[in-house]
Amino acid sequence: MQYRSGLLNICKPIILSLMLIFTSLGREDQPTLKAAFEGKYYIGVAVNGYQILGNDSKSMEIIKTQFNSLTPENFTKWERIHPEPDKYNFAVVDSFVKFGEQQNMFMVGHCLVWQFQTPSWVFKNDSKNLSDRDVLLAVLKDHIFTVVGRYKGKIGGWDVVNEAFSDDGKLKKTRWLGIIGEDYIEKAFVWAHEADPGAELYYNDYNMYVPEKRDAVVKFVRELQSKGVPIHGIGMQGHWGLNYPSLEDLEAAIVAYGELGLSVHITELDINVLPDPFENQGADITFRFKRRKAMNPYPDALPDSMQMVQSERYAEIFKVFNKHSDIVERVTLWGVHDGLSWRNYWPIRGRTAYPLLFDRNYQPKPAFYAVIKTVKEE
Ligand code: GLA
Repeated sequence: MQYRSGLLNICKPIILSLMLIFTSLGREDQPTLKAAFEGKYYIGVAVNGYQILGNDSKSMEIIKTQFNSLTPENFTKWERIHPEPDKYNFAVVDSFVKFGEQQNMFMVGHCLVWQFQTPSWVFKNDSKNLSDRDVLLAVLKDHIFTVVGRYKGKIGGWDVVNEAFSDDGKLKKTRWLGIIGEDYIEKAFVWAHEADPGAELYYNDYNMYVPEKRDAVVKFVRELQSKGVPIHGIGMQGHWGLNYPSLEDLEAAIVAYGELGLSVHITELDINVLPDPFENQGADITFRFKRRKAMNPYPDALPDSMQMVQSERYAEIFKVFNKHSDIVERVTLWGVHDGLSWRNYWPIRGRTAYPLLFDRNYQPKPAFYAVIKTVKEE
């Protein structure tokens, strides 16, 4: 007995060091997104308050090892950070900033002006009547100075205005436009710059590859630039699918925004593999039932064949980003893993979606390796 435990004691440190060597070997072999794209662009991820407050350590491990930029998924939106006229919620944002600083990550604030997730008090003079231009401008200025000012020098970039244009290139008829007029956009940029002259300021929107919308945004940015309004980058949201955008449209948009002297940020990337509910509407009576099943084709797991299709799609898109890495400054995935994606509940609730690079078990998917391979193949 004594002999055996003596032997164990001698062997223990050897076994432990061997284990350590094997574990670190394993780690070195495991590629990371941020290392793969080092020198090209930031690889970012959207985080939620649950993660930041320490309730999802597995996600946090992925965030720390894989990404070098962070965007709050919701907690810097107006309804969360400034829900009532005299109430600001800074606690989660402060923790987010502390975490980002400790990890040396580039942090983005999202978003200062948007028609959604903005409380209705913002647009009201009193409980009933719509506000007027001067009052709403004062509310906006105060919000921007308070929020951007608090994180001056810490949050490196802000989505200043989100989703102001329709796909046909017209300004959306939001309450911002209705009450203030077109210059709500330039005011927001000017004030954000005054609040933190060092922060990069972005215009962020979806379908930014659609030629009509792209041309309208380019024209609008040129006007802003001719007036000396500070704008530094374009955020292309990137909620894309297997068939859209075309690589030609994507590339043409990146180049067009680059020609303005702006950086391009792919701000909310996820590539949906589920069918589009707005297509294939039929008159069959069993249609609704059949449709429900057809709309959620992979309730248990994504088949290998689809993993491959998604990997190829991710790879071809990243090849466009790599080709224009002089313009593309950041690519941010909209969530850590498939289980956390908004695609599970939009545009249909309760589907099992697979749009991201990590699966529900926190494991890298084939698409993850395909994305990294795009750099190795250059
Ligand atoms: C838009 C917004 C994001 C988010 C997504 C859906 O793209 O910019 O903040 O709300 O919709 O998750």
